[in-house]
Amino acid sequence: MNEQTVRALVGELYDPFLHRPLAETGGIKEVSIKEEKNHVSVKLAIAKTGTSEQMQLQMKVVDVLKKGGAETVGIRFEELPPEVLEQFRGQATESDAQDLLSPMSKVQFISIASGKGGVGKSTVSVNLAAALARLGKKVGLVDADIYGFSVPDMMGIENSPSVVEGKIIPVDRFGVKVISMGFFVENNAPVVWRGPMLGKVLNQFFKDVQWGELDYLLLDLPPGTGDVALDIHQMLPASKEIIVTTPHPTAAFVAARAGAMALKTDHEVIGVVENMSWYETKSGDREYVFGQGGGPKLAEELQTELLGQIPLGQPDWNEEDFAPSVYTESHPTGKIYGEIAKNVIDKLS
Ligand SMILES: Nc1ncnc2c1ncn2[C@@H]1O[C@H](COP(=O)(O)OP(=O)(O)OP(=O)(O)O)[C@@H](O)[C@H]1O
Ligand SMILES: [Mg+2]
Repeated sequence: MNEQTVRALVGELYDPFLHRPLAETGGIKEVSIKEEKNHVSVKLAIAKTGTSEQMQLQMKVVDVLKKGGAETVGIRFEELPPEVLEQFRGQATESDAQDLLSPMSKVQFISIASGKGGVGKSTVSVNLAAALARLGKKVGLVDADIYGFSVPDMMGIENSPSVVEGKIIPVDRFGVKVISMGFFVENNAPVVWRGPMLGKVLNQFFKDVQWGELDYLLLDLPPGTGDVALDIHQMLPASKEIIVTTPHPTAAFVAARAGAMALKTDHEVIGVVENMSWYETKSGDREYVFGQGGGPKLAEELQTELLGQIPLGQPDWNEEDFAPSVYTESHPTGKIYGEIAKNVIDKLS
């Protein structure tokens, strides 16, 4: 066999995600042939490695090359560069573009994490989601805190998702499409599954939910850097991550661990939100109830940006349309969320 025949044979096989022949995608990176041993090795680039689709392609490559006369075959895979994927994204079929986990999906994942519990991840998640929707973005929100779900209550959601033709239709609230474990358990019963079930549920949230077209999918993560948080991090597609902290300098120290975990599991930290930053008195003075400096310190440590600081204070409660944790657009804190949302859009465009 010579290089030309190898390229011709392998070039006819399809990239499993782009649905185009490798000859067209520029997927054949290297071909080398050891004539004396009749050994052919190829280096291929596809849209996504480490997948079952890669395994299937691998078998096809071995098959065509052995049929073509090779005695032994060696294959290495790498991922196509983002520019190339972008080029093909425009031509993706609708079903591919809507499959959230496909490399052809345009949806940006944004996960909200923290080093410890109770710092306001869920509050930030629901308000950032609402603020992005107000800016005209198509937004989904996954309450990925499977054991400690809180999003439905915080947003005041009273209905559950419907199922149409085997697909779950997320609940729409303030223009945000929401999915939470809370929709699927009876009467606030605790969720008692372990690892494998957790993965299945998360996967269902991505695969079996009819998200429709989305710009952003926000993920409210479970607190901390323990087993559950780590499991969930590893199960998620690569995402941009926002770390929430309180202003106390030691809180920032704990939150830095969350940043480290994000990096280890392939998520890119895009910024820090400092929550509970101060309390504004009636006379307009700021009291730094929980200390000061944690947010900027953490941002510096993680070499990222402080996306915003949120003061202490409850939303105005509307008895007719109750959403206990959502600030309105005109509330001073709602305006801060609007600014954070603009920051996030800028960072990701
Ligand atoms: N800026 C704020 N001002 C006043 N209360 C707040 C503020 N942010 C959050 N809270 C309140 O603090 C509590 C914890 O917030 P939240 O549930 O958002 O934190 P969390 O990090 O998601 O917690 P968990 O780790 O349990 O998931 C809630 O009762 C919430 O209403
Ligand atoms: Mg929470």
